[in-house]
Amino acid sequence: MKTIVLNASPRKDWNTAQLLKAATAGAKSIGAEVEYFNLYDLNFTGCRSCMLCKRKGVERCHCYWKDELSLIIDQVFSANVLFIGTPIYFGRPTSQYFAFMERLHFSTLSYDDYSNYFHAKVNVGMFLTMNATEEFYDKLYKEKFIDYANEFRLLNGEVCLYPAYNTLQVKDYSKFDMSSFNEEEKKETHEKCFPLDLEKVDTLGAKLSQ
Ligand SMILES: Cc1cc2nc3c(=O)[nH]c(=O)nc-3n(C[C@H](O)[C@H](O)[C@H](O)COP(=O)(O)O)c2cc1C
Repeated sequence: MKTIVLNASPRKDWNTAQLLKAATAGAKSIGAEVEYFNLYDLNFTGCRSCMLCKRKGVERCHCYWKDELSLIIDQVFSANVLFIGTPIYFGRPTSQYFAFMERLHFSTLSYDDYSNYFHAKVNVGMFLTMNATEEFYDKLYKEKFIDYANEFRLLNGEVCLYPAYNTLQVKDYSKFDMSSFNEEEKKETHEKCFPLDLEKVDTLGAKLSQ
């Protein structure tokens, strides 16, 4: 069982990374072989429209643009499970997430009949972190993020979306101009709810890797 983990947060040890590391622990607990990548460490862009993946006679489901993402895309296509985590930035996933997704999606898309060239199966766990509370997420973000997660249906596996709400954005709010946030409430959520998120995500990581 091969699991690829992609952190689409620029912060390597914060909320999103912690969820991904919990999912990784879950996958490893049932014997999965895991490779973990921080997308913000890699030098890549979104789709360059080189059209090489649509040339006649070429191998499909391969991104021909040579940069530090191409090999990772190959690894996703040959994996059993993908975990991807992104913070919510302005109501959307991050720019590196979108750059990855453009490359992944375009290399599976047939321009003959818009069918999917990818026929294997990769289960996907998509993990979100955000300032928003659950109520705010449900009202403003949920529908959109279900759509973002559904884009992974192109990998033909199970797709699970896990949102962690009201995360701690900085360690000490008193050092920042961030008075719209209630530090007490943030810290309470971080101490009471985030550890439960990590436990649930560990379990989900194991389930998706079975
Ligand atoms: C540029 C930027 C934009 C953000 N936009 C939103 C937003 O629209 N909604 C939200 O709930 N949180 C927003 N946040 C907060 C982050 O989603 C939240 O702090 C997240 O947990 C950060 O993930 P990390 O700890 O892995 O870096 C934003 C943060 C940044 C830096």
